[in-house]
Amino acid sequence: MLKCFFTFFTQLVNFSSWFKEIYSVAHNNSSPKKLLGVLIGGSGLIGGTLAHYFKTKTPDEIELRAPSSKKLSIRNAQDIRDYLKRVKPDFVINTAIANIGSDSQLALEINYLGTLNLARATAALEIPYIHVSSAATLPNGEDLVEDDQLQISPKLNNYAKSKLMAEQTLKYMYKNVGLDYTAIRLAVVYGEHDHKIQGFHRLFFSIADESMPVLFTKKKVMHSYSNANKFPYFVHHILKNREEFSGETYHFVDKNPVELADLILTIKSYLELSTPREIYVPYSMATFGKKALEMLLKVFSRIGMKGGLPAELMFLENFYKTQTLSSEKLRASSFVDPMPTETIYTKLPELVVYYLTRWTHQNLISTFNESIIDNSSMAGEFEQTPRKFLETIHADSTAPFRDLITR
Ligand SMILES: NC(=O)c1ccc[n+]([C@@H]2O[C@H](COP(=O)([O-])OP(=O)(O)OC[C@H]3O[C@@H](n4cnc5c(N)ncnc54)[C@H](OP(=O)(O)O)[C@@H]3O)[C@@H](O)[C@H]2O)c1
Repeated sequence: MLKCFFTFFTQLVNFSSWFKEIYSVAHNNSSPKKLLGVLIGGSGLIGGTLAHYFKTKTPDEIELRAPSSKKLSIRNAQDIRDYLKRVKPDFVINTAIANIGSDSQLALEINYLGTLNLARATAALEIPYIHVSSAATLPNGEDLVEDDQLQISPKLNNYAKSKLMAEQTLKYMYKNVGLDYTAIRLAVVYGEHDHKIQGFHRLFFSIADESMPVLFTKKKVMHSYSNANKFPYFVHHILKNREEFSGETYHFVDKNPVELADLILTIKSYLELSTPREIYVPYSMATFGKKALEMLLKVFSRIGMKGGLPAELMFLENFYKTQTLSSEKLRASSFVDPMPTETIYTKLPELVVYYLTRWTHQNLISTFNESIIDNSSMAGEFEQTPRKFLETIHADSTAPFRDLITR
């Protein structure tokens, strides 16, 4: 009797664990595993946009870890190995970059060796590696395709050289060690969250600050633009469709290129400013002016006055030369543009309000028409009627947050 009971009990236990297994398989099948990604460069313009997208749009599907460069510096190969070994991600996205004007050592270590070591780690872990690259790897010209590339040469600036070498090594590793990667080339990026004021936002800042008296370009110089807001949708899509996108390079640019002079004059009219005047400074005169300023700054530095020209001035030649990237391959892919009508022009009003508000708060600019941005909110009361503001807060806004109350 006791033996019978024991056999029955063992069978019951076996049955229940078998049932649990079946249930868990069925359950797992119905909700796919949540992916864990590592994002390098999450505090930057592109990285910040990606971090925000994955946090708000895919909380149940994808979790992203975005360690700061203090926690994980890609200059250190051991840091990369230790971090990825510990976190065990399902993919890595690299948007890190050394400052544009960095010396060769930093550009080499962050832009090239950092990329190389991330690729070596992801190849070992057999996980996808998404690499953000740049139009700086391309020559000037119109309708450039993904196979176009500059020749590697010592004459290239550190940024272009390191980005170009990174692209070539990734391709080599795809062919030779089976790296699953996608490289995405961005052109002139526009979007919110550029905390450093660089690239397009430097140009925008110079107009808003009225430090651009005339046009440092010539008529009909065209460039391609990349929309930072749309970019995460593409990254999400290529993560879900590895077969199509693995081993490939894509230009992530708006369909139509934009004339630089027209864009500058449009921004000027939005800001209701009188400068820059529509006078086109020839390239020879602009380079002469740049050299003269550099010499002047050297003289000043001897008497203890430090100053510098914006790093973007190393791209002065690009203000005078057309570089447009073909978006044909992107449009022929399975990716569907989530905001097909959004361009740099349609986005301008939003960017104007965002950056003017930001730069005003930082006391960086003050010369524009203040009615463009909404100053009627709390900050206005804080500035003009602080006592009344304090009383309003005491009357309406000091109750403890209800959702945090535990009792
Ligand atoms: N912005 C553009 O107009 C543009 C145009 C074409 C291509 N791109 C490409 O887009 C990518 C992102 O550019 P971005 O404009 O977003 O750059 P960004 O705003 O300058 O951000 C750079 C990021 O790199 C991180 N970083 C720097 N050194 C690092 C290190 N040693 N280890 C780990 N992280 C490090 C920074 O982190 P910390 O702040 O913590 O140092 C920061 O988060 C780059 O590949 C760039 O070539 C940008």
